[in-house]
Amino acid sequence: MKTLVLYATKYGSTEEVAKTIADNCDADMVNIEDVDLLNLDRYTTIIFGSPLYVGKLRKDLIRFMRDKIHQLSNKSLHLFVNRGTRTPAIDDIIEKNIPEYQNLLQTTIDFGGTFDFNKMNLMDSLIVRTVNLDLDELDSNQNLDEKVSNFIGKLAHKY
Ligand SMILES: Cc1cc2nc3c(=O)[nH]c(=O)nc-3n(C[C@H](O)[C@H](O)[C@H](O)COP(=O)(O)O)c2cc1C
Repeated sequence: MKTLVLYATKYGSTEEVAKTIADNCDADMVNIEDVDLLNLDRYTTIIFGSPLYVGKLRKDLIRFMRDKIHQLSNKSLHLFVNRGTRTPAIDDIIEKNIPEYQNLLQTTIDFGGTFDFNKMNLMDSLIVRTVNLDLDELDSNQNLDEKVSNFIGKLAHKY
């Protein structure tokens, strides 16, 4: 029984969450950009992770999940979303982005997301400033270790 954390990230904060999860449940972690070398047969459990950008999960992760749905559907599947706001509900995000997975994901959870205007390209920093993103809601993944252990506790009995 081996677990994979398969994540997408633009500015690195989802990678940080993925690493904390992987470290805490002895899992492998793979960036979706490196997926070509991945052998899915090695894994019985997969934890997907993606940030949210203007309501959307990362395209390359969605594409992979769609392409591989037949290979993945007999595994234990889980998802974390790393994002700045608490709305919409995670079930609505799944329905809009990956409706095929609505009944396949056993555990879903939100992490708090992180903004770093120093890293962000101009377009993204303009979007954050103009789109109605409530920065006050962003908890910058404080207490990440505690949140990760809650998440792992939730999925432990679903292995
Ligand atoms: C241009 C832009 C759009 C975003 N849109 C959303 C959004 O629609 N909903 C949300 O909850 N968070 C949104 N965020 C916050 C990101 O999800 C958050 O910063 C996340 O930690 C980024 O992850 P990454 O560093 O792995 O790319 C947005 C951030 C940026 C820069």
